[in-house]
Amino acid sequence: MRLLVTGGCGFIGSNFIRHVLESRGAGVSIVNLDKLTYAANPANLADVAGRPNYRFVRGDIVDPDVVAMAMEGCDAVVNFAAETHVDRSLLGDASFIETDVRGVFVLLEEARRRGVRRFVQISTDEVYGSIARGSFTEESPLNPRNPYAASKAGGDRLAYSYWASYGVPVIITRASNNYGPYQYPEKLIPLFVTNAVDDLPLPLYGDGKNVRDWLFVRDHAAAVDFLLDAGVPGETYNIAGGNEAENIAITKRVLAELGKPEGLIRFVDDRPGHDRRYSLDAGKLARLGFTAATPFERGLVETVRWYREREDWWRPIKERDAAYREFYRTQYEQRLATSSATAKKPG
Ligand code: NAD
Ligand code: TYD
Repeated sequence: MRLLVTGGCGFIGSNFIRHVLESRGAGVSIVNLDKLTYAANPANLADVAGRPNYRFVRGDIVDPDVVAMAMEGCDAVVNFAAETHVDRSLLGDASFIETDVRGVFVLLEEARRRGVRRFVQISTDEVYGSIARGSFTEESPLNPRNPYAASKAGGDRLAYSYWASYGVPVIITRASNNYGPYQYPEKLIPLFVTNAVDDLPLPLYGDGKNVRDWLFVRDHAAAVDFLLDAGVPGETYNIAGGNEAENIAITKRVLAELGKPEGLIRFVDDRPGHDRRYSLDAGKLARLGFTAATPFERGLVETVRWYREREDWWRPIKERDAAYREFYRTQYEQRLATSSATAKKPG
């Protein structure tokens, strides 16, 4: 199999590439097309970069010429490339529409022209919106409620339309919140782990009772690898972690794992339109033969250990990257100034 992976220098993409090179060995060759945005780090793949069956191409999935060159000779595509942070999408950043919608279109057009054998569009559980009770199945209506989720829903349905209209063998995956090594320290778990290491406040939005389902990143990588062979074209698959918890509970577990006091928790003004609960029914994927295996406790211990051992990876971002520091100021300075030790009003 000759695979084009986009966004392979980010969090999930890099874990996926490492997984596939291990699981398929000499049976696969990978081209990794990545624009190297703020969220990327080529060092994420330093351990595999020298392999003869791996090649990196720096480029933008919105650029048809670059995409045509990168897809040359490939029989399958997995599209991880995206703008991914909800809070940044709430700052009015047009790159979400460019990459998460237009970029998907450019990839699909090239895949259609070439007649690729598989096109996996990595979507997200956020396209369903919030659910108070029960769990979303793949048949549930989409109701994205923030600009990131809406742009991902656009890419998700655009991919489906290339199956329905042209027969491009598209598979769509909708995974829940990932955590694990190499996650940029803007998302909940890596931000809170690295802040706690430095005894900095942990800014919990609203009342901290929003629920997410946590999926260990290597389980996600294994699920996508599985679906490359077992997925049925035109179908969508939820990928759940089976580890639902309130943010406050996750925060307390992180602090306990690091031996840090709960006094570091600061309740701050909520994220606008903050989805209360995500929950996926992953029965369809289980019936096909795959279930995520990592219990949250085990995945969290490994994740915390990784961030403790890899300060060389995250300190340069948090301490010396001017763009990161500017984002942190914009996002948290005012919030922390008005924070409290007790829950704030949700929503
Ligand atoms: P990330 O932000 O860590 O990495 C995104 C990668 O895409 C980066 O390497 C970046 O340089 C690259 N990229 C961005 N724009 C690009 C462009 N125009 N052209 C080429 N490359 C570009 O993201 P992640 O957390 O690894 O998420 C990967 C995918 O998984 C995304 O599609 C995301 O929507 C989806 N997803 C993420 C989660 C999660 O919890 N992180 C859950 C479900 C689905
Ligand atoms: P996040 O990691 O941004 O992922 P997503 O928005 O895709 O679910 O956030 C996970 C949860 O943690 C979400 O309910 C928002 C909350 N959160 C905080 O309370 N404080 C923070 O500083 C961040 C980044 C997230």
